[in-house]
Amino acid sequence: MDTAKLTLPDQEIELPIIVGTENEKAIDISRLRGTTGYITLDSGYGNTGSCASGITFIDGEQGILRYRGYPIEELAGSCSFLEVAYLLVNGNLPNADKRADFLDKVTKHTLIHEDMKKFFEGYPANAHPMAILASMVTSLSTFYPDGADGELDIIRLIAKAPTIAAFSYKKSVGQPFIYPRNDLDYASNFLRMMWAIPSEEYEVSPAVRDALNLLLILHADHEQNCSTSTVRMVGSSQANLFASMAAGVSALWGPLHGGANQKVIEMLERIRDDGGDYAKYMDMAKDKNSGFRLMGFGHRVYKNFDPRARILKSAADNVLTELGLSDPLLDIAKGLEEVALADDYFVARRLYPNVDFYSGIIYRAMGIPTEMFTVMFALGRLPGWIAQWKEMRDDPKGRIYRPRQVYVGSGERSVG
Ligand code: CMC
Repeated sequence: MDTAKLTLPDQEIELPIIVGTENEKAIDISRLRGTTGYITLDSGYGNTGSCASGITFIDGEQGILRYRGYPIEELAGSCSFLEVAYLLVNGNLPNADKRADFLDKVTKHTLIHEDMKKFFEGYPANAHPMAILASMVTSLSTFYPDGADGELDIIRLIAKAPTIAAFSYKKSVGQPFIYPRNDLDYASNFLRMMWAIPSEEYEVSPAVRDALNLLLILHADHEQNCSTSTVRMVGSSQANLFASMAAGVSALWGPLHGGANQKVIEMLERIRDDGGDYAKYMDMAKDKNSGFRLMGFGHRVYKNFDPRARILKSAADNVLTELGLSDPLLDIAKGLEEVALADDYFVARRLYPNVDFYSGIIYRAMGIPTEMFTVMFALGRLPGWIAQWKEMRDDPKGRIYRPRQVYVGSGERSVG
């Protein structure tokens, strides 16, 4: 095994080098503190591997994203979201029997307990749907205590999340809840629960269903990002599945993470309402004192392009064409991308459109309200969180997550 030499003021030690499947290299520092008394300091964890994982591979330089070895482009072109969910959680794509069994189980667990419906009555009509989603996911652990049913709880969570999401929308517009139907696929069921009203038949548009399927697949996992690390962190204390997932929802909500999709649309609307002046907003994005960032741009890992953004850029065109819509925000987004990609500031920092830049345009075309965008992201990310949580819990060497710190506060002082 190769080793790295670390020279400290008082000693020199050798640390093992770990090499991943795709030749990713890491220095294993797990014995560093015990041997030397030193810790490492890595604010924002940009250089820290928190685990070894067999779920998702990303190469940020080459714009590669694979789930369980399958390129995202292939999965997006040929699978349903539930097949991808099965792949992430179980490690392989399902054969015909397993697929039928999984789909059947998910379909039959979509109802939420009638008592849970009462919770919705207590939320204000303008409650943010991410707050409702996080609370309702936590509440599932009151009905299925301690997540004690293992695989069944995983099925329940995947099945009930779209029902909760659609009910939170219905609550916000004051319409009656629409119950899930067992003859519909996952995406169609969700769309029907969102848009149907009891007095009318509702026909799911195949173009909208396919667009939703694509979006969910593209969001399904992204290795150790902020929300996934949160899920692992919470789960490492052996908190139950639902509690861990609710923590993931909360972490995703922030505008630097999943909340960026809502912020992108708000930014594009602002630019439109301000006469479409890109240059002004580019200048603001470059001015650190403005507090303004180009939302949907930049990524901690992708430094040349985000493969999900590429797929979504052309999907946005296709979906709008299929639905016979045009959206001035799509034109503004494309214009902004073109200007940013030619600008020295963005070039020097290798800032490219990320998954959130075009996803909002598609959600808008589908009729999803802006406040629901991050909920849509959460529905997609759920199987990834579950897979990562399960991998951590199944690891016999797993330990509670507990980073160290370098203390820089006051030395000892006395109140007297
Ligand atoms: N607009 C303007 N400047 C930016 C942007 C942006 N969107 N993103 C990064 N920068 C600058 C940043 O100011 C810094 O400049 P300097 O080196 O002069 O100080 C440099 O680029 C590096 O940025 P950073 O903040 O150190 O990078 P990070 O890896 O810590 O942050 C990020 C990554 C995604 C949080 C950040 O790029 C960002 O805030 N983007 C906008 C929010 C967004 O779109 N988030 C969605 C991310 S993808 C989906 C997801 O994770 O959910």
